[in-house]
Amino acid sequence: MMQVQWYPGHMTKARRMMQEDIKLIDLVIELLDARIPMSSRNPDIDELAKGKARLVLLNKSDLADPASNERWLKYFEDKGIIALLTDSKNRKGFNAIGKAIEEACKEKLERDRKRGIIGRPVRAMVAGIPNVGKSTFINSLTKRASTKTGNKPGVTKGKQWIKLNKSVELLDTPGILWPRFDDETTGLNLAYIGSINDEIIDSAELAIKLIETLKSRYAGVLYSRFETDESEEDTVILEKIALKRGCLKKGSEADLDKASRILLDEFRAGKLGKITLE
Ligand code: G4P
Repeated sequence: MMQVQWYPGHMTKARRMMQEDIKLIDLVIELLDARIPMSSRNPDIDELAKGKARLVLLNKSDLADPASNERWLKYFEDKGIIALLTDSKNRKGFNAIGKAIEEACKEKLERDRKRGIIGRPVRAMVAGIPNVGKSTFINSLTKRASTKTGNKPGVTKGKQWIKLNKSVELLDTPGILWPRFDDETTGLNLAYIGSINDEIIDSAELAIKLIETLKSRYAGVLYSRFETDESEEDTVILEKIALKRGCLKKGSEADLDKASRILLDEFRAGKLGKITLE
């Protein structure tokens, strides 16, 4: 067992701030990591967003398994949650966002119309776990039309609304996790994709867990990337990766920490292939 838990004080603060800001919000745009759509779903954000319109973005979908992406879209559709695949780095999937926001906020827009309120913009909070791509998403989305509208009454001082266009304003929020992960896998999945501070984790221990996971879910990827025999023990595989990449300590002993960081970095960057872990 490898228990990963990470809930630093700044996340408690951020959560409290979001609890205040949510009162001013029509829509919560929740970014998930398409490689781990369940583990990257923060139950606290779910709780905070209760009663608000929702839009789920399966971000980093370019790094995830295309067949799994389709299955996950179907999963959310079946639950009646509007979800889209995005690649914020390359602005993929962005064309559909405007319409999805409108669809998600249908009831609000209808209510406004009935009250004779015309043109009041939708206010959306962009939320998600650390490293899921929130900043990249906002920056890419607003690249051409970004104007900061400044502080608005009632919003925590210093908070910036980002005007997307005349009908949508976005509020950026810090990445938050939650106090306790229910099971070992959730914590590990979050660590694999880099949403947990690497400094609190033993990288060799994490890399060995990743090797075990990849062997069972994506047989052959370790072989194609590192030419390692997957029938060997996980630790032996890590040693072979170290030798293959010239990670040696004095006395030509394999440097497992260095090899672990290489494996994790390459997995995170998609160099092992398009992989979905759940
Ligand atoms: P955050 O605000 O939620 O914490 O995440 P942030 O935007 O800082 O993104 C974290 C990392 O994920 C960045 O990589 C970013 O480029 C990358 N990223 C964001 N969205 C996507 C996506 O849809 N697809 C892919 N492939 N990557 C994405 P980085 O290595 O920290 O920076 P950089 O070297 O890319 O500049």
